[in-house]
Amino acid sequence: MKEQQEVLFTPHISRTLADVLSRYAYDKLFVLTDTNTRRYCMPLFQDCEPLTQAMPITIPADDTHKNLESLSSVWMVLSRNGATRKSFLVNLGGGMVTDLGAFAASTFKRGIAFVNVPTTLLGAVDAAVGGKTGINFNGLKNEIGVFNSARSVVIGTEFFHTLSSENLLSGYAEMLKHGLISDAATYDRLIEMDMLHPDMQQLLPLLEASVQVKERVVAEDPFEKGLRKSLNLGHTVGHAFESLSHERNQPVMHGYAVAWGLVCELLLSHLQLGFPVERVRQLAAFVRRHYGVFYITCQDYDRLYERMTHDKKNESSHINFTLLADVGCVKINCTADKKEIEAMLDLYRDLFNI
Ligand code: GLY
Repeated sequence: MKEQQEVLFTPHISRTLADVLSRYAYDKLFVLTDTNTRRYCMPLFQDCEPLTQAMPITIPADDTHKNLESLSSVWMVLSRNGATRKSFLVNLGGGMVTDLGAFAASTFKRGIAFVNVPTTLLGAVDAAVGGKTGINFNGLKNEIGVFNSARSVVIGTEFFHTLSSENLLSGYAEMLKHGLISDAATYDRLIEMDMLHPDMQQLLPLLEASVQVKERVVAEDPFEKGLRKSLNLGHTVGHAFESLSHERNQPVMHGYAVAWGLVCELLLSHLQLGFPVERVRQLAAFVRRHYGVFYITCQDYDRLYERMTHDKKNESSHINFTLLADVGCVKINCTADKKEIEAMLDLYRDLFNI
């Protein structure tokens, strides 16, 4: 995998993508969208000539379709239309499209080149950057995949102006995470934003800084042997909440689960490493105001613990956490036993009065 991938920010996505594509030599161009991005995002590329002539591939929208069936349908279009190793794929969509499209490209004829064009804040700040590709399998998220970087990631800021508040907030949780693992000045700018009335002029520089945090981490540890685990902050509990929400048939967006997961993992950081309690309260107030509360009772603890034991970040039987001694002071490979996890969930419920 290339260690540093090109990430471009642009207010003129169509023009910039045309420039990027003109730099690559390919025989056939394909563009992968889901049903939503085909309808709402493709029309923005009317003057990107290569894209208007590319062979379209469309898969059904949403994470439940990030599966073998959609993957196979992408391979099928590539194969039936004579794609070769010199063909090129543009993945235009949120994290589901960029993850699946990148995996399809990485495995077709042992790998064709691709560009990611994220259309959501979550995709731009996380999924499209850093070379993780894959699909869900056997009920497990991202169970099958490879590390392989896009040639370029082209982040078009036009898309964010029309995103729903929920979509913006979902991406913003990953930005908070990047701030927490980075430094106090970056984090303070994020926690002071009013994301209920987001100002794009303020948000976009924060987004660029946030993507740079991820790029720095990935450049140092592309295959997640060590430092990259810092990007898992908030995700051990976050994934357990997300999966509980699906079991309850009240699914929450990934970033919302991460926001609540961050509060829990800062509480655990406080218990284990003395992370400052006023910083926990500050994040909890921000999360409550913007994301609301994820309701749990002590009857959910066993189920949540069980979900955490299935996390693919675990080694041996311990539940692995990335924790913080302070903002920007990351400790990877921390573990917690069931009692500590229950204490953390008790504190979460106290903090949110539930
Ligand atoms: N989403 C975390 C990572 O890319 O490592």
